[in-house]
Amino acid sequence: MPRIKLIAGNWKMYKTPDQTRDFFHHFLPLVTHHDRDEILICPPFVDLHAALESAEGTNVMIGSQNIHWANEGAFTGEISPLVLQAIGVTHAIIGHSERRQYFGETDDTVNLRLKNALEAGLTPIVCVGEVLEEREAGLTEDVLRRQCTRAFHKVSTKKADKLVVAYEPVWAIGTGKTATPQMASDAHALIRGEAAQTFGHEFADKLRILYGGSVKPENAKALMSEPEIDGALVGGASLEPKSFAAIVHY
Ligand code: PGA
Repeated sequence: MPRIKLIAGNWKMYKTPDQTRDFFHHFLPLVTHHDRDEILICPPFVDLHAALESAEGTNVMIGSQNIHWANEGAFTGEISPLVLQAIGVTHAIIGHSERRQYFGETDDTVNLRLKNALEAGLTPIVCVGEVLEEREAGLTEDVLRRQCTRAFHKVSTKKADKLVVAYEPVWAIGTGKTATPQMASDAHALIRGEAAQTFGHEFADKLRILYGGSVKPENAKALMSEPEIDGALVGGASLEPKSFAAIVHY
C-alpha cells in the first residue's frame, strides 16, 4: 500500500494569534478539496487555540512544536501531552535540530518525549539530521544511526504505530541549501533500515519519513517524487499561505 504523504508546516517562533487566523483565512480556500496528502500546521503554543478554531472541520490538522515527557509536574515552561490532546492537537514535533542546538535537547530526552507522545496517542514527528561538519567528515550515516537507535530505544512496535520521522539535514535548514533528492533518498533509506532493525520490516515499510530543509514550491515536486520521501517538514515557506499551498499541491 502506498504511504500517504504528510505535508507539515513548522512555524517556529513566528505569528501572533491574529496572524494565525489571517493565515488560515487565506490558506484554507487554497487546499479545500485536497485529499491526496495529509496537511499539518505546527504553530507556536500560544497560537494553537486560534489555529484549532480556524481549522476546525477542515482537512488541516494542528500539531505542536514540542511536547514534555511527563503528563504533569514541576516542569516550568514545558507543555503536557495531555493538555495538547485535550485541546485537539494531534501531532507533535520532537527533537527538532533547533531544540537540540539551542535548548539542550539530547537523544535521550527525544526518546523520553517520544515515548510519552505515543502513550498519549499523539502522532510524533521525530527529527534527525546531521550538521555540516558531520556530513563533510563522512559521519552522516553514523549520526543518523545513533539518533534513530537512541530515539527508538525501548519503544515497542505496537506502541510506535503512529511514528513519523523527519530527516532534516541541519545545514539545509533555513539556509536555502536543499539536499538533492538523491541525498535525501539515501538518508531516508538508511533511516528506514534502522526502523526495520528496531520495529521489523513490515513496520518500516509503512513508516513515513519526511524531508525537511529549505523545501520550497520550486523544489517540492522533485523531492516528493522520490519513492523514499513521504512528505515534507517545511519551515520558512509554510508561513505564507500561497507558498505553503503550492508545496501541498507540488
Ligand atoms: P526551513 O525549515 O524549511 O525554513 O529550512 C525546516 C525546519 O526547520 O523544519
